[in-house]
Amino acid sequence: MSSLFESYDLAGLRLANRIVMAPMTRARAPDTVPTADMATHYAQRAGAGLIITESTQVSVQGRGYLYTPGIHSAAQIEGWKRVTAAVHEAGGRIFAQLWHVGRVSHGSLLDGQAPVAPVPVTAAQTRVHAYDSDGQPAQVPVSPPVALDAQGIRQIIADFRQAAINAMTAGFDGVEIHAGNGFLFEQFINGGLNTREDRYGGPSISNRLRLLLETVDQVSAQIGSQRVGVRVSPFARAADLHPFEGEQQTWLALAGALAQRQIAYLHASDLGDADFQKTFRAAFGGTFVLSGGFTGETARQAIDDGRADLAVFGRPFIANPDLVDRLRHGWPLAEAGREAYYGGGARGYIDYPTYAMRQAQMA
Ligand SMILES: Cc1cc2nc3c(=O)[nH]c(=O)nc-3n(C[C@H](O)[C@H](O)[C@H](O)COP(=O)(O)O)c2cc1C
Repeated sequence: MSSLFESYDLAGLRLANRIVMAPMTRARAPDTVPTADMATHYAQRAGAGLIITESTQVSVQGRGYLYTPGIHSAAQIEGWKRVTAAVHEAGGRIFAQLWHVGRVSHGSLLDGQAPVAPVPVTAAQTRVHAYDSDGQPAQVPVSPPVALDAQGIRQIIADFRQAAINAMTAGFDGVEIHAGNGFLFEQFINGGLNTREDRYGGPSISNRLRLLLETVDQVSAQIGSQRVGVRVSPFARAADLHPFEGEQQTWLALAGALAQRQIAYLHASDLGDADFQKTFRAAFGGTFVLSGGFTGETARQAIDDGRADLAVFGRPFIANPDLVDRLRHGWPLAEAGREAYYGGGARGYIDYPTYAMRQAQMA
């Protein structure tokens, strides 16, 4: 048997196997409060060694899309309690992905305020699902952001710290700080965008990493670094972020700085060529979680060749709640239609049968 299906010790937390369910925004929390359907959805997928939740905003300011859940109000914490209880009941483990979108947002989601960013530069060709001028849900261009001042930066770090405390109150096994996909932390890390002249930006790599590392430190001080993961997507080029001078050194410096902090894991996608993947992984040295386009076979190889400790599956989990069983037995996978990805109700969300259920229906 491949070690893909063997248990793994994640900083003292026992995972049943090395398959991780990717964080996937599904936009099914109409008022930002996790629902009963969300509890069902995640519990159905508890066969994963670890579930990472969909991106979850740490504050109203951190929100960039309609119907994504938050983890800053009492009602949201109560909603998440149902989710974590259902997953634990089903034998799974679950981390909350903590999120701040930075400039990728729209005033209609922010009580009319402008989104915040390292610099007041609008992301070109970037749309979010928010309200149009008639108050109707629509894909709209992001609003121009304002630059964060020192107090604004302190508040964001405080919001992450509080969100991590809230996550533990809600029963999560840990948190993943989302530093990928062109959102707030990556906006600070990107040397092309972040031309600030204070300690949080400019040519200095350590200045551009500072916001993320201070956040990791503050969150770790509250819940323990062994309960903290970090996600990056260095070359994804999301939300109008572009190549910049010294980007490989920047990401390697981050991996090294996270290594010193003994976090639970580093989760990466969009790492570029095999050489860089190897160097990046070596610079971190701890539990390495790899995401993007895996099949059962390529995941098995990645684990068995030592390229990753845990293999993440995203889209395959949507239509295959029993994905781990299907991979283990070589059963065929179902395909999810893209129309089910974001928004809507139970359809395309909690109505995918397991392979065994399907066989029984067909018999
Ligand atoms: C519908 C959908 C929503 C996603 N939402 C998130 C998210 O909230 N946070 C995140 O870090 N990545 C998100 N991703 C990226 C996935 O975590 C994953 O990296 C990507 O789907 C590639 O893996 P796959 O080829 O196994 O699907 C999303 C992907 C999809 C398809």
